[in-house]
Amino acid sequence: MNNLNSNTPFDVETIRKDFPILSRTVNGKPLIYLDNAATSQTPQQVIDVIVDYYSNYNSNIHRGVHTLSQEATDKYEGARHTIQKHFNAAHAHEIIFTSGTTHSINLVANGFASFLNENDTILVSALEHHSNIVPWQMLCEKTKATLKVIPMTSEGALDMAAYDDLLLLNPKLVFVNHISNALGTINPIEEMIQKAHSVGAAILVDGAQACPHIKPDVQALDVDFYVTSGHKMCGPTGVGMLYAKESWLHKLPPYQGGGEMISEVTFEKTTYAGLPHKFEAGTPNICGGIAFGAAIDYMNSIGFDAIAAYEHELLEYATEKLNAIEGMQIYGPKTDKTSVISFNIEGVHAYDLGTIVDKLGIAIRTGQHCAQPIMDFFKVSGTARASFCFYNTKEEVDTFVAGVKKAAMMLR
Ligand code: ALA
Repeated sequence: MNNLNSNTPFDVETIRKDFPILSRTVNGKPLIYLDNAATSQTPQQVIDVIVDYYSNYNSNIHRGVHTLSQEATDKYEGARHTIQKHFNAAHAHEIIFTSGTTHSINLVANGFASFLNENDTILVSALEHHSNIVPWQMLCEKTKATLKVIPMTSEGALDMAAYDDLLLLNPKLVFVNHISNALGTINPIEEMIQKAHSVGAAILVDGAQACPHIKPDVQALDVDFYVTSGHKMCGPTGVGMLYAKESWLHKLPPYQGGGEMISEVTFEKTTYAGLPHKFEAGTPNICGGIAFGAAIDYMNSIGFDAIAAYEHELLEYATEKLNAIEGMQIYGPKTDKTSVISFNIEGVHAYDLGTIVDKLGIAIRTGQHCAQPIMDFFKVSGTARASFCFYNTKEEVDTFVAGVKKAAMMLR
């Protein structure tokens, strides 16, 4: 038992045994994986589901009368129900499988082209990943609508007074991440959703960085659109989901045309399938969808309260240790954040730091984290980012901090 806090019953050593990759070495050292905000690792329980799919029932779904196709369809639709239950969506058909958060956002942005014109305003937060900026810029190019930015404070939180002012413009749509990938900031989405609705705006929340740490309830939030990716929460890459209220899914046009998404096709006219198939053209990532459901089951078997409490302990422990290093600058808020530490050390380039700690077997991310406006705000070319998951340990933090100190000594 590796309890950081004796009140927290969290058996991290047992959990670590679920992740085969955590026993490998990198550059002759035990791997210390601290790039979880980019991609989390995959437990054996999910790997087994992937192997089982390709070993036993690999086939196309919704199209075959044969046994394999029916088994695959049942598992795929079962995963949709698992995801629906996890996010507390009212209907399974409000869960659209996508290739990930970026695909989900593009699907909604594409649909909004039918609803916007040059008189409309849409709001984006300053804390966004490029995937929640660029599709909206493309939408504004197409529709001539205006994109306005909700600014951030010097602490790296959203400026809520400025948000109130921007809402006076009566925007049609607001998009914000639940948690910033670059800083770990937890945005006050409950308040933002309620305020957006009070002026008649729809709101999309990018939950890619939130879903590994907390369990959102889309009905309690009353959010219009909530999007996330499987690979951030112990699932495979190449699969994610769009939750949208049923009423929006009826209003939005299909994103792509093809098989699966149609009801009838003639050369004169095509009618579309019902939900969710209207938005799922072509053969989907069947195995990925099934494994995404298995990953959610896995995370729930640990429990999101236990995950959040443990990761918070790790965050506080690592923050205190890193802050003791001379010249350390950590970006972002001190509270209301998840287990992400974005930092620079005076006189040390983040890229060099990342390269040296890799030699010690430690994986962190360096650079702009697909969030260049945040880097510009802090006037840095990039940062080093350590992001912790529930399978990381206090001992790994100690080794990481020792590695950062060593690298800083070599580079200054
Ligand atoms: N969006 C991912 C990250 O923050 C890739 O690293």
